[in-house]
Amino acid sequence: MCRTMDGASGSVDITQGREVLPSNVKPLHYDIELEPNFKDFNFNGTVAIDIEITEASKEISVNSLEIEVKETKLEINGKTLTPTSSIYDEDIQTNKFTFDETLPEGAKATLTIKFVGILNDKMAGFYRSSYKDANGETKYMATTQMEPTDARRAVPCFDQPNLKSTWSVTLIADKELTCLSNMDVKEEKDLDNGKKSVSFNKTPPMSTYLLAFIVGDLKYKETNAFRLPIRVYATPGNEQYADFSLDIAARTLTFYEKEFGVDYPLPKMDMVAIPDFSAGAMENWGLITYRIVDLLYDPKTASVDRKQRIAEVVQHELAHQWFGNLVTMDFWEGLWLNEGFATWMSWYSMNEFYPNWKVWENYVVDNLASALNLDGLRSSHPIEVPVKRVAEINQIFDSISYAKGSSILRMVSKYLGEEVFIKGVRAYLKKHAYGNTQTTDLWAALSEASGKDVESAMATWTKKIGYPVITVTEDGKKVHLKQNRYLKTADVKPEEDETLWPIFVGLKTKDGVDEDIVFETRETTIEVPDTDFFKLNADQSAVYRTLYSPERLKKLGESAKTGLLSVEDRAGILGDAGALATSGYQKTSALLDLVAGFKEEESYVVWAEISARVSSIKSAWLFAPQEERDALKQFQCDLMAPLAHKLGWEFKEGDDELTQQLKTLAFSIAGLNGDPKVIEAAMGMFKKFAAGDLDAIHPNLRGTVYGIALQYGENQGEKEWDVVYNAFKNGRNNDEKNVALRWLGRSKNPENIKKTLALALSSEVKDQDIYQPISGVRSHREGSEAIWAWFQENYELLIKKLPPGLSMLGSVVSMCTSNFTSDEQAREVSDFFKNKDTKGFDRALAQSLDTIAAKASWIARDKKDVEKWLKDNEYLPKEYQPKL
Ligand code: BES
Ligand code: ZN
Repeated sequence: MCRTMDGASGSVDITQGREVLPSNVKPLHYDIELEPNFKDFNFNGTVAIDIEITEASKEISVNSLEIEVKETKLEINGKTLTPTSSIYDEDIQTNKFTFDETLPEGAKATLTIKFVGILNDKMAGFYRSSYKDANGETKYMATTQMEPTDARRAVPCFDQPNLKSTWSVTLIADKELTCLSNMDVKEEKDLDNGKKSVSFNKTPPMSTYLLAFIVGDLKYKETNAFRLPIRVYATPGNEQYADFSLDIAARTLTFYEKEFGVDYPLPKMDMVAIPDFSAGAMENWGLITYRIVDLLYDPKTASVDRKQRIAEVVQHELAHQWFGNLVTMDFWEGLWLNEGFATWMSWYSMNEFYPNWKVWENYVVDNLASALNLDGLRSSHPIEVPVKRVAEINQIFDSISYAKGSSILRMVSKYLGEEVFIKGVRAYLKKHAYGNTQTTDLWAALSEASGKDVESAMATWTKKIGYPVITVTEDGKKVHLKQNRYLKTADVKPEEDETLWPIFVGLKTKDGVDEDIVFETRETTIEVPDTDFFKLNADQSAVYRTLYSPERLKKLGESAKTGLLSVEDRAGILGDAGALATSGYQKTSALLDLVAGFKEEESYVVWAEISARVSSIKSAWLFAPQEERDALKQFQCDLMAPLAHKLGWEFKEGDDELTQQLKTLAFSIAGLNGDPKVIEAAMGMFKKFAAGDLDAIHPNLRGTVYGIALQYGENQGEKEWDVVYNAFKNGRNNDEKNVALRWLGRSKNPENIKKTLALALSSEVKDQDIYQPISGVRSHREGSEAIWAWFQENYELLIKKLPPGLSMLGSVVSMCTSNFTSDEQAREVSDFFKNKDTKGFDRALAQSLDTIAAKASWIARDKKDVEKWLKDNEYLPKEYQPKL
């Protein structure tokens, strides 16, 4: 018997086949006591769950995983029952207790379970994290990561987001250790055995995936700038780097309380830096956990990107305190309500606190681009995707839930106006506080606030896979629009092209933006005031691509220089042209022409898009003849080098973030593509650094300088590798270590590639960081081949290190395969996995294969076109003939 949840409107029942607990019992309150043991790496636990019997039955099922149940009893109507059987079903991770009498409907009862769990090293459930203390000794802390379905590893429970309960947590630990949980401390007692027992106040009703507790040697810094105490905890000595995140947290909580009109309901906010952490951060209510580098900030050693990432992560997790924690999705197909919203909200607040960063401009080349990229694959999925099994849930923490989710929120917020949008959000949060929602609840609140029918405009966007490309044809002032599904592989079948999206066209003309055109038929015709200038998708506010005629595209390229187009528009034109070349709607030579016309561009964001477009051609041509690859490299260098020379690579006091980013980008693209001046400068910095001057390289340039040295050093960076390896071993903090680790793989020297890959699997690199060295190695062709061989050789070990239940394995699969560009290579990849269980990463694999297929058909289509362009522009000699 399975719980089926109603309310999913539309024709398909997304709840069908969903693995959920039987609905005969409802949890009300949990009382848990846990004692981690740092010698045997396990923990003793007791949980007493107050439940209500909602349907008469003899059975109670709870979720549990890798937990040994020692003793179970049920107190009901003054009696104590023990189960006659206790059966564990590994497949669905549940434990079913059967009693010999029927539990009457309506009765309240308490189910008490004593158990032992594993304090594992897999970064899931209640797990151990290790670090070296000041004396170089290995120390452990115990911490948790429950989302999405690992609370069941820490405590037998009803592990579903809709089954909210209150929690009273007690931790037993050595006296000198710090104990933390979601709530503040209620009582601390010394025990006879020399330990202490720390009890925390009862939580408000909350979902299991938000439960958290930590035991370890931790120090903190605190701020009183918010109405409640905010603390940042870290291992001793590292709490000194807490100032930036404390400050931003205080400002953000204050801002969100005002924007949401609902106070943060818990008595404190703790944020903790954890040495081993699978994601970037986790929004546990009142006790947010982070990767060290995503929380602690050292202004002396950190790059501007690092600073922005910390700001983003902190604001994202704080947004979840409302969106996710206070109001929670009913089930995981509503994940986007959590992640899409937290993403949108973090941009909204970054924009408030750091107007100079112009984050909404950057949004187009960041979130919008990654949404359109993944969603252009056949193997993408709708935002609201049915997830039935545990192994499916982890896989939807992807660019669809985060980036497409936030992109459609950005779209609707612009359509309604930000103020109206926030007003609707406020009403939604008030109405559903401590409850669970479905997507329709959000649309209802926005409809109420705006007086517009938001649901009918938005439902298609969350329920259907993909997005449209609008083909524009012109007849004087009459502009004809036609929408079709966009696929990167350019092979849309009629049955895949049935969706008609309600498109907020956003027509930009010299008169301004017409926001009112919503187009939901296959074709339509609009009128423009003059044919000199118009652009669709003003500021790239909507989720679609635009296909213009070559003449119009050329005109738009010219308008880019005359101030008629915003940064978002300029980046958007480039992004669309890139995607349309990939999929054969346009010629790649037209893209190259367009890009070449942007030489006078001044915006960092547009330059980032330009370099991304050329890099994407280069990555499709990764296995093309050397001459062609060198030619593309030279083109990319020629685009960027003048800017690098003009701006220089000194960072001055007064440089704002965007200036720093532009200098960094120009230096990096020019240098890595062979500009002699930049290379010389980088080699100079590297030499000083190698001689012991740790500050010889500016933090913004550190990675690039390592990369240039490894790429252009003698014998492909043979010796330079040791210097960067030392930078990894002796980095002053995790950020410095990571940068070195990420760039080590840039050396194409075969011995160095081997050493880098061996390092990834050695005990010197934490499992959480395995992907870092891989990302460097896959940056070139030699490495891309090496990494696939390495992956196959070490497959068993990788599976052991990164269990399929975590999302990291999927990323590694994708990193090790998606660089290929031919059908043969794709076949080799699928052959390898043919007889393997791809549970937990089947989506990543399918997406990788789609990505390869898209590149293969792109090259087949435009190989000659690109060759000709390179000849016409003197990047290839006229007589060049590719060898077969
Ligand atoms: N809820 C997630 C953490 C998470 C991710 C849990 C995957 C389980 C599986 C958290 O809010 C999050 O999204 N973190 C991001 C940071 C953010 C700035 C996008 C992360 O971990 O990178
Ligand atoms: Zn999140």
